Amino acid sequence: MLAMRAKILLPITILSGLITGIWPAGIARAESGYDAWLRYAPLTAAAKAKYKSLPASVVVLGDAPVLRTSQDELIRGLRGMLGRTFRAETKLPQESAIILGDFKAVREVAAQWRAPVLASGDGFWLTRAHVHGFDCIIIAGATDRGVLYGVFHFLRKLALEEDLSNLNEKHEPYAPVRWVNQWDNLDGRIERGYGGRSIFFDNGTVRADLSRVADYARLLASLGINGCVVNNVNANPRMLASDFLPQLARIADAFRPWGVQLAISVDFSSPKAMGGLETFDPLDLRVAEWWKEKVDEIYRQIPDFGGFLVKADSEGRLGPSSYGRTPSDAANALARALEPHGGIVFYRAFVYDHHLDWRNPKNDRARAAYDIFHPLDGKFDDNVVIQIKNGPIDFQVREPVSPLIGGLEKTNEAIELQITQEYMGQQRHLCYLAPMWKAVLDFDMHVSGRATPVKDLVAGRVFHRPTGGFAGVANVGLDATWLGNPVAMANLYAFGRLAWDPNLSSSAIIDEWTRLTFGNDPLVVKTVDAMQLSSWHTYESYTGPLGIGTLTDILGSHYGPGVASSENNGWGQWHRADHDGVGMDRSVATGTGYVGQYSPAVQKLYETTAATPDNLLLFFHHVKYAYVLHSGKTVIQHIYDSHYEGTQRVKEYVRQWELLRGHVDEDRYAMVLARLKYQAGHAIVWRDAVCNWFLRASGIPDALGRVGHYPNRIEAESMQLQGYAPFDVQPAEAASGGKAVECAPPTQQCSAEFRFTRPAGWYELEVQYFDQNDGKSKFRVLLGDQLVDEWVADDDLPSAKVGSDTSTRRCISGLALRPGDEIRIEGTPDGNEHAAFDYVEISPSPE
Ligand code: GCU
Repeated sequence: MLAMRAKILLPITILSGLITGIWPAGIARAESGYDAWLRYAPLTAAAKAKYKSLPASVVVLGDAPVLRTSQDELIRGLRGMLGRTFRAETKLPQESAIILGDFKAVREVAAQWRAPVLASGDGFWLTRAHVHGFDCIIIAGATDRGVLYGVFHFLRKLALEEDLSNLNEKHEPYAPVRWVNQWDNLDGRIERGYGGRSIFFDNGTVRADLSRVADYARLLASLGINGCVVNNVNANPRMLASDFLPQLARIADAFRPWGVQLAISVDFSSPKAMGGLETFDPLDLRVAEWWKEKVDEIYRQIPDFGGFLVKADSEGRLGPSSYGRTPSDAANALARALEPHGGIVFYRAFVYDHHLDWRNPKNDRARAAYDIFHPLDGKFDDNVVIQIKNGPIDFQVREPVSPLIGGLEKTNEAIELQITQEYMGQQRHLCYLAPMWKAVLDFDMHVSGRATPVKDLVAGRVFHRPTGGFAGVANVGLDATWLGNPVAMANLYAFGRLAWDPNLSSSAIIDEWTRLTFGNDPLVVKTVDAMQLSSWHTYESYTGPLGIGTLTDILGSHYGPGVASSENNGWGQWHRADHDGVGMDRSVATGTGYVGQYSPAVQKLYETTAATPDNLLLFFHHVKYAYVLHSGKTVIQHIYDSHYEGTQRVKEYVRQWELLRGHVDEDRYAMVLARLKYQAGHAIVWRDAVCNWFLRASGIPDALGRVGHYPNRIEAESMQLQGYAPFDVQPAEAASGGKAVECAPPTQQCSAEFRFTRPAGWYELEVQYFDQNDGKSKFRVLLGDQLVDEWVADDDLPSAKVGSDTSTRRCISGLALRPGDEIRIEGTPDGNEHAAFDYVEISPSPE
């Protein structure tokens, strides 16, 4: 997997191919994942024939940068897919043409053409019309950006081999705000980023080479995304330093041809932290003046600057509460500085006390956003947008919709969705999030007793707000695949498509994405679509079912299982599991009262255990383990069963993907296969940790006898050890039987041996070992004296500890074993990694 993480250095030939869209004869197309859904791969002969009669010229009406980009992109895409170089024109030729321009410009050349009435900006119309007697294709935009979006839409139709003969399509975005956020630090690291280092920053400065930034903007533009906040919400005050602004202006320059506005996160204490004032009180006139001057300075260098994103009074960040001021005081101080320039303040509703007293059963972090922001409704200026995470906690695998989304009528809002898979397997686990986002966006909040789906509330359609929309935390990095795994890019794609049109279905989106990413081979499309569509539910079932939360180690990397980590601390991600039962009582009648933050119709859905859907039961209620769900199962048996089912489904993903060998290019095939195999192993780590924890807590055995019984497993600590020593793993459920063995210094090589006692046959042997990020130990497996496998533990898993983050498995398939065989595992430690391992599992080879 090291190869996947390596920064890509594309050979010159390939790079020039990327730029020009022409592939030198005889050189295989690079399929590193870099092109994502903009591969413009050559179409089949049959499809090419369909587009034979396309006009040969591409005329652009105007010379604005975005228009020039539109023309270049169209020619690039057509060349890639059709193998023809269309003519670039700026004046109408005496022949048919593809005409690009805004509505006004098109009308000037085609007198009888009538621009459509589109309600909002950035829309476009693809149509055919007679211009000077010639049959032309017209890609017309309400704005220059609309033209570019029209071009990308047209190219997508070609890549999907759609018919163009009766072209007549009008599209407009659902909401004005369609932004991504990047949580990049100036030193180049990315908070919760899993695709390599920052494409923007390195070592405290903006990178010299911003070609990746332009390519990112292109990907964003292809989805209609029109803004990007480039730095971490936990912002460094230096972002606003006068000597830093020219560097930011370079990023804006790279974005501009693609219609992407630059915005930044700001540290609310900046007037004091770097501005030389002794205060950052938003109501202090000196502070207001400081923000105004700073903003004017920014706009002198970046005239199309988008605005500020603010995380304040949250997780240790300073905010207006330091002076007894409110979020509206804070947001408006910034908004008034930005307003003359057309800039926006995105003020995050992710404000909560992370030192809550967990002993008080009435305390509830989920209440915080509504409690703080609802009373301020109407107090925010019109260029403030309250940016609200989809759920009330923090991007868990399943949460109800944040009640604040229905709690603001006189305030703009945007929904914050997380594309980077922080709690969702960090791009190592397949987890297509569109089905989850759709469930949120389509959810009816019943505000004022009428149908008010989340998508309409955030878009500002319900209360006729001037702005609003969608923000996605993307965190792409320098990895060739942008997000660290080609299949994870489906989430960036889906976010952009839903921000443009939240009425699209998850299955329509994934079908587009699969075809654009891997081609139109029916086997590939069917397999990948099905895997992606089921993957969120699969992930949920082996991590945190029934609305309990993701059950990950919330105090560490948010990756592997850590069931108890959320309890007995002030962070408030509690599930309240004890001997008797599990779940958090948030009802009005007996709980924290959180349910009361919803409209009466939604309250009815969640107030009682009887009404609450099974998949959110434990979010809203504390129940006994023997409580019977709507499904007829007890809670505890559901926890066991879902973990086993989810684990089994990932195993099937591996088999399904293997059927695609030869149908997908070798590089991406191998990358995805490696990730799926890893996931299959890690799902077992999850299953065993969670099930054993609940077995211990509840004392209720698994009705199917699986939990705690592993007949194929040989624990490392039970083997004959030389050099290796057993130790207790913390928490105990992170290792089978609570123990592993390690080869600690000064010993330089250790071994563990056991005798095979089962009948002769073909077997699969799996070694569960720990691959920390502070060393590269070596492992060898010997059958008698015969070496049957060896490997280096050099993956980059997110911990330096032996535990559930680092537990991983190596599968040796097709071993002929005979009773009495000696099997030996040899480990050679490296650095602080002591070649620790947990167990060996031997199961009959699948047929
Ligand atoms: C999560 C995440 C943090 C992040 C925070 C936020 O808690 O783990 O890294 O800073 O969300 O959204 O502000």
